[in-house]
Amino acid sequence: MANLLIRNIKGLVLAVQEASAAVRGKDMAQLPVLENAWLLVENDTIHSYGSMPGCPERADTTLDANDRFVFPSWCDSHTHLVFAASREEEFVSRIKGLSYEDIAAQGGGILNSARKLQSMPAEQLLESAWNRLEEIIGYGTGMVEIKSGYGLTLDSELKMLRVIRELKKISPIPIKATFLGAHAMPAEFKTNREGYLKLVIDEMLPKIAAEGLADYCDVFCERGFYSVEETDRILKAAAQYGLKPRIHANQMHYSGGVQVGIANQAISVDHLEHCGAAEIAALQHASTFPTLLPSCSFFLGLPYAPARDLIDAGLPVVLATDFNPGSTPSGRMPFVLSLACIHMKMLPEEAIHAATINGAAALEMADQYGSITPGKIANLMISKPMSSIAFLPYAFGTDPVERVILAGKEWNRNQRQ
Ligand code: NIG
Ligand code: FE
Repeated sequence: MANLLIRNIKGLVLAVQEASAAVRGKDMAQLPVLENAWLLVENDTIHSYGSMPGCPERADTTLDANDRFVFPSWCDSHTHLVFAASREEEFVSRIKGLSYEDIAAQGGGILNSARKLQSMPAEQLLESAWNRLEEIIGYGTGMVEIKSGYGLTLDSELKMLRVIRELKKISPIPIKATFLGAHAMPAEFKTNREGYLKLVIDEMLPKIAAEGLADYCDVFCERGFYSVEETDRILKAAAQYGLKPRIHANQMHYSGGVQVGIANQAISVDHLEHCGAAEIAALQHASTFPTLLPSCSFFLGLPYAPARDLIDAGLPVVLATDFNPGSTPSGRMPFVLSLACIHMKMLPEEAIHAATINGAAALEMADQYGSITPGKIANLMISKPMSSIAFLPYAFGTDPVERVILAGKEWNRNQRQ
């Protein structure tokens, strides 16, 4: 047995005795922060915490967190961090006036990423994904979801999901995998959509399920990508294999994605840059999480999702990065929190809930991650010296993380499991 004691913590963030479910509505503004605290970790698990006067006297390892806050790690519930290459040439085309949709319609975008991924060996994909995983852990992320969707052929979707499986084996943080075969329509199926839908439903899904390669199923439900009817068909087929939906909805338009996700008991509907009264009312009658990705709005110049309306409607808003080469080439959760506060008018307390416990709940892992709760896995970060919680989203260019603790041990780069 090994234990770790963190002493003199300026503020222990989200310290709650009971493993809570997601935090919703006005409760999101009430962030529990225990001032002048200690935290004891035993092996990989949070053991106990309290106020400094009652601090245990010794431990195998002791860290002093003077002037620093201790946070539960970020739970990034939406990424595409396995990909072959960056797409800065499209970034330059957009600067010159083309839109994301123009580029996609010309065979760029997701299809560009798919061509590159199809020809890249799995080992190389794994290596680059590992580097990105290490990068996001350094930003304080302690749990992540990763999607396929740059394969778009049976072999390449399997290759991508197997890379995610290999990444799970060496990763120091938990990973959930999502099958996103319906991300874009491959060029060879442009005039034969039915042919690709059949490939997804009759060939990809059974193989992926048989190998246990995915935890969830996603569809890019959007004009120019997949219709509501196609989304419904794919999600119903995925349900036959026990894959629950978490889908891309309402990014560019009022696509009906929110409603079709809810109708299929989606765990989460993600993006919601276009989200009005009808979508919010539908979410109020569902257990589906609204997941917002403000760094995608930032990068593409899209509207920001109406976080205030969603929170005021009593909903449990989630924040994630959407890390991918096309719409969000960043896995930096602290920047997501800054954008949520600056552009979506979320309070720092709300943004912290949305990026921790609510992200864990959206990955169905809130019983083990997302808060400082005895019995949960000790995935934490210790901040640099900070004057208050609000400093974190306020100082949008400053790296707030000084140390990362994963499963009770201090993490440094180049540690594979
Ligand atoms: O979440 N919207 C669909 N998928 C990604 C973008 C993928 C890409 O452009 O490569 C997203 O924004
Ligand atoms: Fe995405």
